[in-house]
Amino acid sequence: MGAESKPREELLGLVRSLTERVRLDGELRKPLGYLSGVKVGFETTAVHAPAPVVERSGIDVSGPEPVVERSGVDVSVLDPVVAELGDCRRCPLGALRHRLVFGEGNPRADLVFVGEAPGADEDAQGRPFVGRAGQLLTKIIAAMGLKREDVYICNILKCRPPGNRNPLPDEIAACEPFLIRQIGAIRPRVICALGSFAAHALLKSEAPISALRGRFHRYQGIPLMPTYHPAYLLRNPGAKRQVWEDVQAIMKLLQEGS
Ligand code: URA
Repeated sequence: MGAESKPREELLGLVRSLTERVRLDGELRKPLGYLSGVKVGFETTAVHAPAPVVERSGIDVSGPEPVVERSGVDVSVLDPVVAELGDCRRCPLGALRHRLVFGEGNPRADLVFVGEAPGADEDAQGRPFVGRAGQLLTKIIAAMGLKREDVYICNILKCRPPGNRNPLPDEIAACEPFLIRQIGAIRPRVICALGSFAAHALLKSEAPISALRGRFHRYQGIPLMPTYHPAYLLRNPGAKRQVWEDVQAIMKLLQEGS
């Protein structure tokens, strides 16, 4: 071996041992804080992290994180955010939830949907938009020619407000730093805010959703389209036409840049 190939071998050795450590820490569910700020420069498709199910006893009863990847290295850009969030009790909703709903989908998605907060089904499963409104969202995504795994889906709040009441300002304030980091890590090309709560929380606007929808705004410099929430569509099917117009504008924007 030539003298010049030795540093390369050492570097490869270091990469291998770091990869192994990340893999083992992931299996052992240790915090991956040492990866904070690291953007991994390869494609990783993760169906992300229903957060650990920590029963009120404090014992983690969930299985391993369902990280699906193609790169050979189980690292998601969202792992540092999941680690920082931990078994969150920053607001009173933490003590009331069954499961924290972090979000799921492709952490490299071009398109992120942001809803309001988990409902009963989401709280039970630890996954966003899996109830009736979620099934309609899945159909909207399919009508866009995409699958749920292609996009990323999350909410303003990560825990269910009791009785599905509206999120309180303090709850939004406690959860917001994690949504900011989540979207900052994914850096999608477009965001779709579902319903007035998501639109108001993201845009810091109180304008009615009927006035906000139909045109792009900006969030962290990213084009953001507000539209009606799928739960609203279940009650007002006539509004589906406007949602279809909004998602067509999103599709056009995504196609323009590809
Ligand atoms: N409604 C939301 O806003 N989010 C969900 O995850 C489910 C229903």
